[in-house]
Amino acid sequence: MKKIAVLGGDGIGPEVVREATLLLEELRDRGLPIALWPLDLGAERYLRDGTTFPAEVRATLASEYSAVLLGALGDPRVPGLEHARDILFGLRFGFDLYANVRPVKALADRLVPLTGRTARDVDLLVFRENTEGIYVGIGGQMRRGTPDEIAINEDVNTRKGVERIQRAAFEHARTRPRKRLHMADKSNAMRHAHELWLRVFDELRREYPDVEASHVYVDALCMYVIQDPSQFDVIVTNNLFGDIVTDLGAALQGGLGMAGSANVHWSDPSRLALFEPVHGSAPPLAGKAVANPFAALLTVGMMLAHLGWPELERRIERAVIEALDAGRCTRDVGGTLSTPEAAAWVRERLRAT
Ligand code: NAD
Ligand code: IPM
Ligand code: MN
Repeated sequence: MKKIAVLGGDGIGPEVVREATLLLEELRDRGLPIALWPLDLGAERYLRDGTTFPAEVRATLASEYSAVLLGALGDPRVPGLEHARDILFGLRFGFDLYANVRPVKALADRLVPLTGRTARDVDLLVFRENTEGIYVGIGGQMRRGTPDEIAINEDVNTRKGVERIQRAAFEHARTRPRKRLHMADKSNAMRHAHELWLRVFDELRREYPDVEASHVYVDALCMYVIQDPSQFDVIVTNNLFGDIVTDLGAALQGGLGMAGSANVHWSDPSRLALFEPVHGSAPPLAGKAVANPFAALLTVGMMLAHLGWPELERRIERAVIEALDAGRCTRDVGGTLSTPEAAAWVRERLRAT
C-alpha cells in the first residue's frame, strides 16, 4: 500500500488537484493499492491560524508516506509568500529531494510555437538541482529602505550537491536512446561556484563515456533551445537556472498548463517524493474553472511511475494526447472545455482503454 498526501494549495492549485484526486480515487476504487490523505495547508489555513508546515505533518509524512502531490502555493493575500516557502522548501529541502525532474515534451504539433517545428522536436528532460544554489535563503539586508541599502543572497554549491545532481543526470541520460547530456552553467561569470560545476562535469564525463556530454553556458542554452529544441535530450543545471529554463521549456510544450514535475531523492527512490505541476497558483485564473488540469494529470502519471506503475503513466499520457487531438481540452491549449470537463474526458478515455 502506497500512501499519498494531497495538497491543493492556493489559486488554481486546488482546482487541478481536485481533478488529479478524482483520477487517483478511481484507480484506487478499481484496485490500485494507494491511500490518499488530504492536507489542509496553504494560504487559507495560514491566514486562518498562522499554520504553514506543522512538525507533526512533517513527521507523519516522513514515517508513513511515499509521496506528496502538490498543486501550487502563492496567494496575493500573503505577499511575503512565507507559507509557500515553508511548505515548498520544507518538502524539497527538508526531505533532501535533490533532483527536480522536469520533462519538456510536446504532446501535440499545434502546441509547439516555433515555425516549422513539430512535437517530435520537443522531447527533453531537465534535471534541476533542488536543494541548494541561490534558493537556500542565506543572506540578509542592511540599512533597509535607505539609499545605502545592501541586499544579499548567497549562492551555495557543495561538492556533494553538485556531484549528485550531475550523476543523476548522467545515470538517466545513459538509459535514453540518444544518451546526450548538456550541463548548463555560468562559469564564465560565476567563476567560483560554477568552476565547481565544470570540474565535476569533466570528472563525471570520463565515468560515463557512453553519454555524449557537452557543456553550454546557460544564456546560450536558452537561445539554442529556441533555435532547435531537437538537439537536446537531457539538461542538468542549478536550482535557479533550472527554474527559468523549465518555464522557457513549458512554452515549447503549449504553456505551463502542460508541464509536470517530480522532486526526488534520486539515489534512494524509496524515500518520500514530491510531485507538482511546474505552474504556480495563477491567481487571475482561480475560481473560473479555466485552468488546464493536464499538467497535474501528467504529474500524477510521473508519481505513479515512480511508485512502481509505469504503465499507468503511459496510459495517462496517451489519454491526454487523445484529448488534445480531439480538442477536448481547455482554452490555453486550443479547446473550449472547463477544467473539470477536460479532466473528466481524460478519465473517461482511461476507463475505456
Ligand atoms: P503561474 O505559473 O501561476 O502563471 C504563469 C502564467 O501561466 C500565467 O499566464 C497563467 O495564467 C499561466 N498558467 C499557469 N498555470 C496554468 C494552467 N494550469 N492553465 C492555464 N494557464 C496556466 O506563475 P506566476 O503568475 O509567476 O505566479 C503566481 C503565483 O504562483 C506566485 O505566488 C508564485 O510564487 C507562485 N508559484 C508557485 C509555484 C509552486 O507552488 N510550485 C510555482 C510557480 C509559481
Ligand atoms: C517552481 C516555482 C518555485 C521555484 C517558486 C514558487 C519558489 O517557481 O516550482 O518552479 O522557484 O522553485
Ligand atoms: Mn518556477
